[in-house]
Amino acid sequence: MAIVTTKDMFAKAYNGGYAIGAFNVNNMEIIQGITAAAIEEHAPLILQVSKGARAYANHIYLMKLIEAAIEDAQENAGFDLPIAVHLDHGDSFELCKSCIDGGFSSVMIDKSGLPFDENIAITKQVVEYAHDHGVVVEAELGTLAGVEDEVKVSAEDSSYTRPEDVQEFVERTGCDSLAIAIGTSHGAYKFTAAQCTRDENGILVPPPLRFDILKEVEKRLPGFPIVLHGSSSVPQEFVKLINQYGGKMPDAVGIPESQLREAAKMAVCKINIDSDLRLAMTASIRQHFAEHPDHFDPRQYLKPGREAIKKMVQHKLVNVLGCNGKA
Ligand code: G3H
Ligand code: 13P
Ligand code: ZN
Repeated sequence: MAIVTTKDMFAKAYNGGYAIGAFNVNNMEIIQGITAAAIEEHAPLILQVSKGARAYANHIYLMKLIEAAIEDAQENAGFDLPIAVHLDHGDSFELCKSCIDGGFSSVMIDKSGLPFDENIAITKQVVEYAHDHGVVVEAELGTLAGVEDEVKVSAEDSSYTRPEDVQEFVERTGCDSLAIAIGTSHGAYKFTAAQCTRDENGILVPPPLRFDILKEVEKRLPGFPIVLHGSSSVPQEFVKLINQYGGKMPDAVGIPESQLREAAKMAVCKINIDSDLRLAMTASIRQHFAEHPDHFDPRQYLKPGREAIKKMVQHKLVNVLGCNGKA
């Protein structure tokens, strides 16, 4: 199987009450860990590449590694792994065009920070080029807090999506899916301590997601795939491990998995998870060095790092997305 678009994946996910996991990739071990999990769970997959990932690893390396993963799945697992390759947070027409010309099957144009009409104009331009080339487009309305491509968006500058805008936006742009802001946020520090309450163990509990907004959007766009960014849950056991082995991540906090599972049963068809994979890989590498201070061969610590990514993705596919067995 070649690289596929998200069209068919989203139609099935919408009707089946589950979501597809979109995981960010930056190197071989991350790609191998994620695809190994998807093969084992028979799950369709979106591998996404940020502007930063392209700058780090180079477009062609990432494409060839993803193609290798598809070929390897077919040859060694006898399994046609459906993978969509997606540009995460494209910030210009030129960047989207470069990814479309370079073989991606899906791009995001994120102009959610611009006024409504300007967001529509550039999104429409990307949609026209993408559709001419058989590529699908994700757009965004509303602003998430957190870090995007190394730029910090403060909680004050973030704003929930206005349900009354979504129909006009989708009609005028022709986009294929829509990312909305209902209280998720990028990175491992999604909320300040002041925005949270604490549970009986002193762990920060974030404000709940705005399911009322999601329901209203769903009502206005029946059958249309909705996307959630910033959906890492920042599992405290990994934060603890990182801190235990020399890290310093006080008050890292994420979105409870139970709420994301609920969203996946609704119109949400794509859930973006990156930080949790970073936490899992970093925790395992820190632990490895603490237990083997004499090791200096990168294979010795990247192997457990890759294994940690696989375990984390398997957990998400089964317990958060519910897309295991759907490929
Ligand atoms: O939303 C952003 C993703 O987590 C990608 O992060 O820009 O550090 O590659 P990045
Ligand atoms: P997290 O930082 O919550 O993993 O979000 C990732 C994301 O939205 C990538 O676009
Ligand atoms: Zn994002």
